[in-house]
Amino acid sequence: MEHGFSKDFLWGGAISASQADGAYKEGGKGLDTQDLRYFNADWTKDERAAQENRRISQDKFVKALTDLDDEHYPFRRGIDFYHKYKEDIKLFDELGIKILRTSINWARIYPNGDDETPNEEGIQWYIDLFTECHKRGIKVFATILHYNIPVNLITRYGGWKSRKTIECYVKYAKTLFKRLGTLVDYWLPFNEINAGRFNSYNGICIIKDEEEDYDNTVFQCLHNQFVANALTIKAAHEMIPGSMVGGMIARFTTYPATCKPDDVMQMILDDQYSNWFYLDVMARGEYPAYMNRFFEKIGVHIDIEPEDLKILKNNTIDFTAFSYYFSQVSTTDQGWEKTSGNLIMANKNPYLKSSEWGWQKDPVGLRVTLNQIYDRYHLPVFIAENGLGAKDVLEDNGSVHDPYRIDYLKDHIKQMKEAVIDGVELIGYTMWGFIDVVSCGSMEMSKRYGVIYVDRDDRGQGSNKRYKKDSFYWYQKCIKTNGEDLA
Ligand code: BG6
Repeated sequence: MEHGFSKDFLWGGAISASQADGAYKEGGKGLDTQDLRYFNADWTKDERAAQENRRISQDKFVKALTDLDDEHYPFRRGIDFYHKYKEDIKLFDELGIKILRTSINWARIYPNGDDETPNEEGIQWYIDLFTECHKRGIKVFATILHYNIPVNLITRYGGWKSRKTIECYVKYAKTLFKRLGTLVDYWLPFNEINAGRFNSYNGICIIKDEEEDYDNTVFQCLHNQFVANALTIKAAHEMIPGSMVGGMIARFTTYPATCKPDDVMQMILDDQYSNWFYLDVMARGEYPAYMNRFFEKIGVHIDIEPEDLKILKNNTIDFTAFSYYFSQVSTTDQGWEKTSGNLIMANKNPYLKSSEWGWQKDPVGLRVTLNQIYDRYHLPVFIAENGLGAKDVLEDNGSVHDPYRIDYLKDHIKQMKEAVIDGVELIGYTMWGFIDVVSCGSMEMSKRYGVIYVDRDDRGQGSNKRYKKDSFYWYQKCIKTNGEDLA
């Protein structure tokens, strides 16, 4: 029986290209879909939370294509990791992380997505970045697509609606395997593949209001992503023998709101439609039977080409991965109170407290999730994201006191350890946004997850200097003692 984390447990941190890199027009990079998301720092709290402000419309999309303004497009600047990566990696090394999860920006490698040849400057930047990590003994966990795709693929082909995008994506992935194959330790073709259903601009890059048959488009795009995912796994296994390729979901852990049998059944359905479907396709290589009934109910007919099912069946993932921030409850009661959660509005659980953004904190839910996922697939499990978004205060002396974040991490890591003792084969933990980055959902810089503070505000103003928060020293000790000293 295991009594704690294995000696080669991968403690780490995660960021993504659009939220961190900036330099959106440098190094030959093309425009990508996250560069077009508009934010206004003058919005009130309610306006920031409002879906209609955050959601991209066709008008906003078209305006952003030619809008040269940087202030209102926070993903264009990120935290300027593009220029600061060397000093940042030095700090990551001091923190002691064993692995860095970041994403590769497709538009840096193929600026238009369908270019004949790759952009050498973009490739070189990743070679330099990953080499720098390895020089410091930090492994690399590379997400091939974390939401942003080259805009040209949308305007020219309709993005994931078209099989042309599968072809371009697989060509892009093969370029990465060929040129960066020896520098990456774990591959993840898609960040949170179920985001396509819950946040369609991010997940599958479609503009909701524009779609006549929204549900059908969503599941067709998802099918195209599943096929791209399987072909990518095939290429990785052929080109880099022994490579580890994962499949990731945003985990919406859910409990029945009551022990009423209807609520229990609702929980099973919510879990199938929101979570299991995506991992079932990627890990078992098949469309699960329960989706037939769901597709019929919502009138979805997916175009599946004869070869597709074989491709899915023959190319399954090597490990499962998920992001975990909150849990919710399932109920048939339509009037049940709601609160915000990652990517969705969630049903409230009266036993849980919420973050400033309404996300319900549930450390035990992480143990529940780890057991559920491992029981279902018997594959190694990677926690690709977890953390607390909060407002921090930078003191005059450069310190940041964030006991709330330490408590959050401590409580979750304790439950991870319990899950390991339960027998779950947990291989790594990459804390989300361990250096502050632009928030993906709210687009605010002031929603911070990091143990490293970045001095920038919602307008992009500030020195952009990095400071160690109290949680930095706490996580450093946690890593050093392999999760034993959590005091
Ligand atoms: C995940 C995304 O869904 O949640 C990240 O993969 C994101 O990109 C994270 O940043 C936290 O969400 P948010 O909206 O608080 O940034």
